[in-house]
Amino acid sequence: FGVNGVWMAPTIIVNKGDSITLNVINNLPVNTTMHWHGLHVAPENDGGPHQKINPTTTWSPSFKIRNNAATFWYHPHGAGQTDPQVSKGMAGFFIVKDAAEAALNIPRIYGVDDIPLNIQSKAFDDLKQIAIATEMDTALFVNGTLNPYFNAPAQVLRFRLLNGSSLRTYNFGFSNNQSFYQIATDGGLLDSSIALKRLRLSPGERAEILINFSGMIGQNLHLKSFSSELENGIYGAYKMGSGEDTIEGYQENSLNGKDFNLLNLKIIASTANPVITIPISLVPFKLYAISAATNDRTIVFDTIRALPFEKPNLAEGPFAINSKAFDMDYVNDTVHINTTEIWNLVNKTLVAHPFHIHDVQFNVIEKSGKPTPKSERGWKDVVLVMPNDSAKFITRFETFANETVPYMYHCHLLHHEDDGMMGSFLVIDTTRSAGISQIKYNTFTLFPNPVSENITIHFPSKIPFAEIKVLNILGETVLKQNTTNPILNVQSLRSGIYFIQVKTNNTRYIQKFIKE
Ligand code: C2O
Ligand code: CU
Repeated sequence: FGVNGVWMAPTIIVNKGDSITLNVINNLPVNTTMHWHGLHVAPENDGGPHQKINPTTTWSPSFKIRNNAATFWYHPHGAGQTDPQVSKGMAGFFIVKDAAEAALNIPRIYGVDDIPLNIQSKAFDDLKQIAIATEMDTALFVNGTLNPYFNAPAQVLRFRLLNGSSLRTYNFGFSNNQSFYQIATDGGLLDSSIALKRLRLSPGERAEILINFSGMIGQNLHLKSFSSELENGIYGAYKMGSGEDTIEGYQENSLNGKDFNLLNLKIIASTANPVITIPISLVPFKLYAISAATNDRTIVFDTIRALPFEKPNLAEGPFAINSKAFDMDYVNDTVHINTTEIWNLVNKTLVAHPFHIHDVQFNVIEKSGKPTPKSERGWKDVVLVMPNDSAKFITRFETFANETVPYMYHCHLLHHEDDGMMGSFLVIDTTRSAGISQIKYNTFTLFPNPVSENITIHFPSKIPFAEIKVLNILGETVLKQNTTNPILNVQSLRSGIYFIQVKTNNTRYIQKFIKE
């Protein structure tokens, strides 16, 4: 699969403040979606499972770029479809530039001294086709290329590292053990560069690094993953799980727990006007103050039983969030707009899971009960939570509220995500309608659902109906009924997903239905 080509997807480069429209034309034989990973956009523009693009149709989200300069990416996000479509090649960079970044003396000539590197491991089947949901991902690709090399000019280079793999975590470093300097996390530049020899990125995570190859013409080195140094329980480390709770065949994968090359770097003559120094101070930022948080939320990673009599495998899954598999029609969490929250991620399994949340960038405030490692202090949208361990982040929900269209959070191990290790959350604005103090979801039943003609609203207890509205997926009112009659005729609606909203004096009740 590819975007505007036969394989992989081109880089999109935008400036902060730009207003853009993306026309996503689905010429694939299957449904897809397109998600702008890390970008702060409205939920209906986010490209999650609810913004399905049918074959031969076009989806055209328009939005303003509100994020600071950073390395984002885009990829499909259909329910149960993320791993197959990303593995087959649908993943590209989405680079945002801004004035603060432009003021720094760092490399920024795309493809010359500013190099995006999408690192992916893949598996092939017997017919040499890309295989999905297998643990035999031994083929290493950089930007869709096997056995890649880069003619690297002898000067300071900027690598934008993206772990675009479905499962594998990398522990980046260079074969000559040269120091490099991290300048950005997932969602923005750091306030000062960090000297490193190793940098660990789990699936979905990005980092920008600078490395100085001045005076090294003629040398040949490798960007590597030092996976022998990964902690057990991280996909890519030597050991996974314990006792019966292991991944079958994991030990047979020749990459697990080994050090291996990712990219051959041949150092050539420098370009004209090269950058030759590495800045220490970058872009100052203010992290969220813990005292600003008004709500705490706990998200538990656990397993569900595939069959009632089957014991769940704590290393192989199927994994879930708060013991519930992803459901398109269920809202897991409801967040109020303009509030700051602390999310506590608790991993009760034997695998490290990279947790990703849409809509926001967050600050990791604690990992394994300890202060955040230096490389993860800054703007993040993915955090790796270790086995039988926890992590906490703080974030603020701003700009976009929608009572019906949710955002997603999930494990970025794509096969876990597709298996149901994903939840949804709404950001709502209760101040928008006067007098309403609360919004409740899934408190009444609708039948039949799907419906073709008449739908009946049934509450478990008696509620004084004031107003019944039917909203479409964009939140627009398509039907209204000012009556105590709990039966609605929806025959005139086009087929698709709708919401019924029942409004009483101080509460709005919302429930989804499907029109056939
Ligand atoms: Cu990169 Cu919800 O995804
Ligand atoms: Cu996972």
